[in-house]
Amino acid sequence: MDEKLRKVTHVENIRYDKAAEELVILDQTLLPNEEKFLRLTTAEEMYNAIKLLRVRGAPAIGICAAYSLYSLARTIQEDTSEGFLTKLKEYAAYLNSSRPTAVNLSWAIREMLKTAKENLSLPRAELLEVLYRKAADIHADDIAKCTAISEYGLTVVKDGDGILTHCNAGPLATSRYGTALGPILLGTERGMKFRVFSDETRPLLQGARLTSYELQRAGVDVTLICDNMASIVMKNGWVQACFVGCDRVAANGDTANKIGTSGVAILARHYGIPFYVLGPTSTIDMDCPDGAHIPIEERDPDEIKNMWYEKPMALQSVKCYNPAFDVTDHTLISGIITEKGICRAPYTESLKALFDNKK
Ligand code: MRU
Repeated sequence: MDEKLRKVTHVENIRYDKAAEELVILDQTLLPNEEKFLRLTTAEEMYNAIKLLRVRGAPAIGICAAYSLYSLARTIQEDTSEGFLTKLKEYAAYLNSSRPTAVNLSWAIREMLKTAKENLSLPRAELLEVLYRKAADIHADDIAKCTAISEYGLTVVKDGDGILTHCNAGPLATSRYGTALGPILLGTERGMKFRVFSDETRPLLQGARLTSYELQRAGVDVTLICDNMASIVMKNGWVQACFVGCDRVAANGDTANKIGTSGVAILARHYGIPFYVLGPTSTIDMDCPDGAHIPIEERDPDEIKNMWYEKPMALQSVKCYNPAFDVTDHTLISGIITEKGICRAPYTESLKALFDNKK
């Protein structure tokens, strides 16, 4: 593989430095201008890294939380198993409260707590080693899942296609390749050419700052557009498929992803363009019946009025509504591409089959 592309698809957005016993993350809020790595040692630093989007993207925050819990477990002083578990649960609840929408966060935390409970009788050093292995497995597993998702995604596009994406679901948001950007990066590795349109993704600009950065560095033909330009680009006939990531997929296929995603899906339906959601099965929440039950994170109005601007761009007193995610109705989704294959409507059945078969 081309060395430059290898660096892009294998980006170390999250790494556990075992020698120093420290969690290291790439601060995504500073990209693309600065590549700065942060060492997280306290629960507050870990909580804030997720809350403030220094680490972001549904799978990535799950991986970060898993390593965080291991790291915090090392600091627990309580001698008894019960005392250890109580303290670990406190840390788990605290980290879990950092962001509500992406189900990967609570999924990874649950996996870590389950592992702790199952191995509670082990001597402390061994228990900690088991927890480290679990976090590393969650990380490695995501790499395998993203690779499989990328392969399945490649089956629905062809060389030369135009693809529109929203927000960032690339290597920075996951572990390698990414989900929505995975087929594009994998296809590029194989010599395919795509023309990608990246929505800038207001208000936090993940498309401008991260997606166009990742794709351009990988040598992909990427064009950055403002969110309100998706319609004209589709009307011009430049888009053959939309690829987006997901933060939580409900049992009926309704999908929460970055605010603005549902608008892209509505436009795609108008222009007859297939709209695909790509994500690992850890993002599917079978306990959530439909989109109405997905908690939507609401963020600080300052992100709309002031952030990224030299001068405030709105009256400081103006009322703002700043939901970070929206729900795309399952009827607008052409397929949900997972590491186990592509689910099609009716999603209530196809998603359930993914878990029934335990493939
Ligand atoms: O607020 P963010 O930047 O964490 O939102 C991220 C997204 O909406 C992604 O599309 C989603 O998490 C999937 S990442 C593979």
